Amino acid sequence: STPLRLGIAGLGTVGAGVIKIVQRHARLLEERGGRPVSISAVSARSRGKDRGVRLDDYAWEDDASVLAVRDDIDVFVELIGGEDGPALAATRAAIAAGKDVITANKAMMALHGQDLAEAAEKAGCVIRFEAAVAGGIPVVKALTEGLAGNEVTRVMGVMNGTCNYILTRMESAGLPYAEVFDEARKLGYLEADPTLDVGGIDAGHKLALLASIAFGTKVDFDAIEIEGIERVTIEDIEHAADMGYKVKLLGVAQMTGRGLEQRMSPCLVPDTSPLGQLENAMNMAVLEGDSVGQIVLRGAGAGEGPTASAVMSDVIDLSRGTRVSTFGRPAAGLIQAKPAGASAP
Ligand code: NDP
Ligand code: HSE
Repeated sequence: STPLRLGIAGLGTVGAGVIKIVQRHARLLEERGGRPVSISAVSARSRGKDRGVRLDDYAWEDDASVLAVRDDIDVFVELIGGEDGPALAATRAAIAAGKDVITANKAMMALHGQDLAEAAEKAGCVIRFEAAVAGGIPVVKALTEGLAGNEVTRVMGVMNGTCNYILTRMESAGLPYAEVFDEARKLGYLEADPTLDVGGIDAGHKLALLASIAFGTKVDFDAIEIEGIERVTIEDIEHAADMGYKVKLLGVAQMTGRGLEQRMSPCLVPDTSPLGQLENAMNMAVLEGDSVGQIVLRGAGAGEGPTASAVMSDVIDLSRGTRVSTFGRPAAGLIQAKPAGASAP
């Protein structure tokens, strides 16, 4: 049968991980998706770099926006990163050319996802981003498929592994924030701009996406009240422990009479609860629906394998012929959430 042909832009941690899965699991992908998955072309900044994967079979494009519109690709896979720049330009080009898009780019989707989804709907193509929220945890699918028969009442989560690592390390080793921050830097956990992690912005991007999916609202990153972990002290953590609590950078989104409330901030959680037990760089999503009650998903929110795993779940969905974007029908289906604090009608 006709293969699903990918064009992959960005061959770093996630891009290389995706290529490894396509190469390693060709038969499995064909069985699961009903057709082979192939890679037609790839793009990155430096052509000569060794990426630990064989690229000889694929065409090379220096410009991701040129790759995105090639005739021999069905799906543009954006794994460059960055809220705008080449990632956004190439994604827009792909949609304008009617190509389906898969991205892991939480920043781009949190800030431009609404426009992109509306453009995709108009162009008759699909945009998916399972990997953008909590990496390897299939939380988007849990919400859009597993909980499809529920009215979602609340979504919560620890969605930045770096912050969870810093907080658990401060707690277990009794080390101050600055020391553990340096440790996280040496381990390569921090984003190029660490404020994205410790300022709660990266986790906020993910919460904005999750809330939009859960409540059918437009993505509204600016409406999130965000406080990072920079001011959490070892004393805060010790006092919390004395009372049987842990400090977690927790995102919470819930629909109230006043509209959608979205908050990302250091919170106290009971140390015996699933969130309290979440250690190191793990992520957790807690989803609540009117029929299902509460479900808890735990797993790696980052890293080559987990993130590529999430990208591949979108690839297989498109192989199967799914024509639904992660945001559903943005133009017709979504409501504009009232900002929290607005008075009830
Ligand atoms: P990396 O920094 O490892 O890789 C980025 C890649 O993009 C590099 O291969 C780079 O090329 C390439 N690139 C940069 N500029 C361009 C350009 N103009 N055209 C084409 N390619 C370009 O990033 P990650 O793999 O870590 O992340 C990719 C995306 O996945 C990001 O959106 C990130 O937020 C998201 N993500 C990452 C996770 C992770 O664990 N790493 C987890 C969840 C999401 P070169 O190699 O030549 O420099
Ligand atoms: N910096 C992010 C984290 C990477 O620490 O969770 C995954 O999105």
